Amino acid sequence: MGKFKNLISIHDLSREDIDLILDTAAKMEDVAVKRSTDLHDKIMAVLFFEASTRTRLSFESAMHRLGGSVLGFSDVMSTSAGVKGETLADTIRTVERYADLIVIRHPLDGSARVAAEFSSVPVINAGSGAEEHPTQGLLDLYSIKKMKGKIDGLTISLCGDLKYGRTVHSLGMGLSHYNVKIRLAAPPSLRMKPAVVDEMKKKGISVEQVDSIEEAVSEDVDVIYQTRIQKERFGDIREYDKVAGQFKITKKDAEKLRKDAIILHPLPRVDEIDSDVDSLPQARYFDQVYNGVVTRMAILKLLFSDA
Ligand code: NCD
Repeated sequence: MGKFKNLISIHDLSREDIDLILDTAAKMEDVAVKRSTDLHDKIMAVLFFEASTRTRLSFESAMHRLGGSVLGFSDVMSTSAGVKGETLADTIRTVERYADLIVIRHPLDGSARVAAEFSSVPVINAGSGAEEHPTQGLLDLYSIKKMKGKIDGLTISLCGDLKYGRTVHSLGMGLSHYNVKIRLAAPPSLRMKPAVVDEMKKKGISVEQVDSIEEAVSEDVDVIYQTRIQKERFGDIREYDKVAGQFKITKKDAEKLRKDAIILHPLPRVDEIDSDVDSLPQARYFDQVYNGVVTRMAILKLLFSDA
């Protein structure tokens, strides 16, 4: 097996592992354009039990650019798990017989780890509940490094739904391997869980918590990472209504940023970044999207390499 057996959580990666993935992603920029046949003998299964546009399509694009094949589903209601009550374990024990790698997105925390326990082929977590989204965290780190030239020394605001947003959990843990200052900006009911904050602080980085978007979008910040309020994860929709539309970046806010600051977002956006911000030089979220292809190519290569 390759450098990594599975990719379930950012917690399983060291700084050296993360740097290796980011360096390999940089090498993939050229391969992505020229294409390769390195993984011509590999089949990737994509099991998406939850909605996705970018994650699934960029995994597929990454695999095609490396010469591999893809099969899978993105509509759970077309599967035996969705309609007939098949367990996740049985679905995995079936799919491992069709593919050399499983990429899974599932609404339950811990689902990717369970899938890996039942699978004899590598498993990549493409989003497990509100808990983690490690490949998004890695592409976010790659985006920061590519756009800012470094990660160490930066001040980064993570904004929006820090409670249910899985991307900020993975990105925050990934960033904690570097020498960064983190500002967490969320409505009080959507703050990051104390356990995650403590874990970041234990790694020795400075973590500050604020309650307004204005405090996050300020002149001393290098990277703003805005996120969507995760409507589908609220137990009580009235709680969502209380915070919906409150934590927005407007053009007026963004104009306070330094010219070399960048605004990122894992997407999809609902209304948390006004569309007139898109034309500002700091708005880099659509450039960030492409980095998902090269980062996922790097992950696929490393999973199957003998290094
Ligand atoms: C994110 C997700 O699914 O967690 N999307 C993505 O993968 N780029 C963010 C979100 O849905 O808000």
